[in-house]
Amino acid sequence: MPRIAVVGATGAVGRVMIDLLLERGFDDVHAFASARSAGTQVGGLRVEEATPDALAGFDVCFFSVGSRASRELVPRAVRAGALCVDKSEAFRLEPGVPLVVPEVNGGRALEHDGLIANPNCSTIPLTLVLKPLHEEAGLRSVRVATYQSVSGKGAQRLQQLLDEPQAEHDLSVDWDYDGEEFDEEMKIREETRKILELPELAVSATCVRVPVPVGHAESVWIETQEPLAPARARDVLRKAPSVRLEDFPTPGKAAGRDDALVGRIRRDPAAENGLSLHLACDNLRKGAALNGIQVAELVLASRSVAA
Ligand SMILES: NC(=O)c1ccc[n+]([C@@H]2O[C@H](COP(=O)([O-])OP(=O)(O)OC[C@H]3O[C@@H](n4cnc5c(N)ncnc54)[C@H](OP(=O)(O)O)[C@@H]3O)[C@@H](O)[C@H]2O)c1
Repeated sequence: MPRIAVVGATGAVGRVMIDLLLERGFDDVHAFASARSAGTQVGGLRVEEATPDALAGFDVCFFSVGSRASRELVPRAVRAGALCVDKSEAFRLEPGVPLVVPEVNGGRALEHDGLIANPNCSTIPLTLVLKPLHEEAGLRSVRVATYQSVSGKGAQRLQQLLDEPQAEHDLSVDWDYDGEEFDEEMKIREETRKILELPELAVSATCVRVPVPVGHAESVWIETQEPLAPARARDVLRKAPSVRLEDFPTPGKAAGRDDALVGRIRRDPAAENGLSLHLACDNLRKGAALNGIQVAELVLASRSVAA
């Protein structure tokens, strides 16, 4: 059994990560967070402070601590010999760092040099759906509008939503703005291109935070090179891994489930070869923790085959 560190264990992603690891039978799991949380308990585990020394000696380290802490801690854990899977944006677009959704580009995970990046929580379900459609008809362009839940901003923001009066709930945007677009919109574009290995793909995203606890939804409009009938797209997506057809996908239906839900697949009359669809996915599971675990499982399985 691999010795596993979950760094950021007290956070929204880290808590789900611990539950999923224990559910999947991993039994040598250790919880780490900042000095603030040292000594507390999460998922039945005692939390330790994440320091480079404390993180030495692990086979796998999962990081969900935010970019600044990842930039400090991840390179040292890599040097100490761990396979590191990082959920922050810090290394995702770095050349040479695989950015992996196992069902889409799992082979890239095996090219790692100690570090694999876990994509953005909206990018993961989007690429699960785009990949099979691209193989069927060739993607020409992608437009996406996201409706992202509050847990995507972390455990504290989620608690704030649960505590505030419903009358105060509103749409919001809480990402960095460069005067033209939010960094979240750039991430969806650039990460999608990297994962699909389509560096020139036209991708345009508009992101909004909605007052929903868990589960991100996305409306997607694609143009394909070849005509793609909605019925054919439905057949293709029915067979796609980690995708489940649902007449009207909502965050509530997706929360707590592993698959991305996809539906409302229809012709887009505003574009030649246009197709429109709607998806929803649990941002803490497949959008974050589950995808990271699957990435590590892929690498561990390849090691046991090689041994
Ligand atoms: N939530 C999502 O749906 C989602 C999806 C995709 C990606 N992500 C990314 O995943 C990361 C974590 O997100 P989250 O939503 O889980 O955030 P969160 O709920 O705010 O949790 C952050 C975690 O990081 C720990 N931490 C912060 N600074 C640290 C430091 N210097 N050293 C060690 N631990 C530190 C915190 O520990 P304390 O409790 O001790 O402060 C906490 O465990 C972020 O990079 C985020 O962008 C999140």
